[in-house]
Amino acid sequence: MSASRSILLIIGGGIAAYKCLELIRRLKDRGISSRCILTKAGAEFVTPLAVSSLAGERCFTDLFSLTDEADIGHIALSRSTDLLVVAPATADLIAKMATGLANDLASTALLATDKRVLIAPAMNPRMWQHPATRRNMAQLEKDGVLVVGPNSGAMAERGESGPGRMAEPAEILAAIELALAGEAPCQRAIGFLGRLPGGASTQGPLAGQHVLVTSGPTHEAIDPVRYIANRSSGKQGHAIAAAAAAAGARVTLVSGPVTIADPDGVETIRVESAREMLAAVEAALPADIAIFSAAVADWRVADEATEKMKKDGSGLPPLALIENPDILATVAHRQSGRPGLVVGFAAETENVIAYAQAKLAKKGCDLIVANDVGGTGVMGGDANTVHLVTRDGVESWPTLAKQEVATRLVAHIARLAAMRAGT
Ligand code: C5P
Repeated sequence: MSASRSILLIIGGGIAAYKCLELIRRLKDRGISSRCILTKAGAEFVTPLAVSSLAGERCFTDLFSLTDEADIGHIALSRSTDLLVVAPATADLIAKMATGLANDLASTALLATDKRVLIAPAMNPRMWQHPATRRNMAQLEKDGVLVVGPNSGAMAERGESGPGRMAEPAEILAAIELALAGEAPCQRAIGFLGRLPGGASTQGPLAGQHVLVTSGPTHEAIDPVRYIANRSSGKQGHAIAAAAAAAGARVTLVSGPVTIADPDGVETIRVESAREMLAAVEAALPADIAIFSAAVADWRVADEATEKMKKDGSGLPPLALIENPDILATVAHRQSGRPGLVVGFAAETENVIAYAQAKLAKKGCDLIVANDVGGTGVMGGDANTVHLVTRDGVESWPTLAKQEVATRLVAHIARLAAMRAGT
């Protein structure tokens, strides 16, 4: 990860401005520095002091401040960065961008820049759906502006809901990572231009593709109250599903029992056991890409008790185990309808790479993402150290936040899939 990546964050005037404080913090964690412009309206929602404290430098607020212009002129401000990010991108800012208005520092920087621009729209659903905003967004799309969100859901105003909620900081961050890597994050607005039937987008490296992801553990019932489980949290698989959606894919996520939220913009199917997971996966096919990150239980009890087993002094219950179906191997070995790219995971506590290579061959997949789960807190934790194992070799990545692993992995998979498709 390069330490010199930087963005110019333009914070517009909307209630979602508070999410930018979290975004600045997360960007810093990823080694991306943010210089900030706070619009006059934005300053009604967050203070310049809060923004500067988190960004680690004074934020810019006024076009005609002689001190600011002496420090760094607005032209230089808009160019001495890798990417401009507008969040929240209000209807007003979007309209100014679409028409090329330049009457304050934010709009002037946006017009003067020679860098890519990513916007995270946020507004009331009626404003978002208004023909004027539709026209402005269509213009921005033509101008090559990148868009993340908005999501659909409840608004700050009571009783209002629909498309218009600003994307979450993690989603904006994933879009920033993609944009900085030269990819085009898609916008995922419901009912927005560019949306294909069935949910895929016309933008992004996975545009028009169906990506199937499994995530989380499985629970294998012993009796109606007890089950066999493992420590998987689903964080890595869910982050991959979110990153694939941000890359333009229509995503089906088949998730075992987890406590984390379903990712926005993804169709999530919840299951309990390995057999249910296999059924849901088969029902979700065909897919262009399948990523099996779930920690599926290898075994289940041979005879699940229909009533709660009793501790009645007659000895320990015999828990005979039988093997679960291997979902990854089943899909990877399909004669017809095999996804073009099948990716498996290998959680190991020793000989990580050697076991992953053996698994690649045995399971018939195209890529194994191997990770060492021995005593490092990977299962349930927020970071992961992975090795990408293919028939061509091994690529090892440094320890990264699971979200970053997801973003990079999706970009890597998109490239692999494109190469296989010969595009
Ligand atoms: O054999 P092992 O469990 O180590 O393989 C891990 C990979 O296989 C993961 O991608 C996991 O999602 C997948 N798997 C599966 N069905 C199983 C067991 C593992 O899809 N029953």
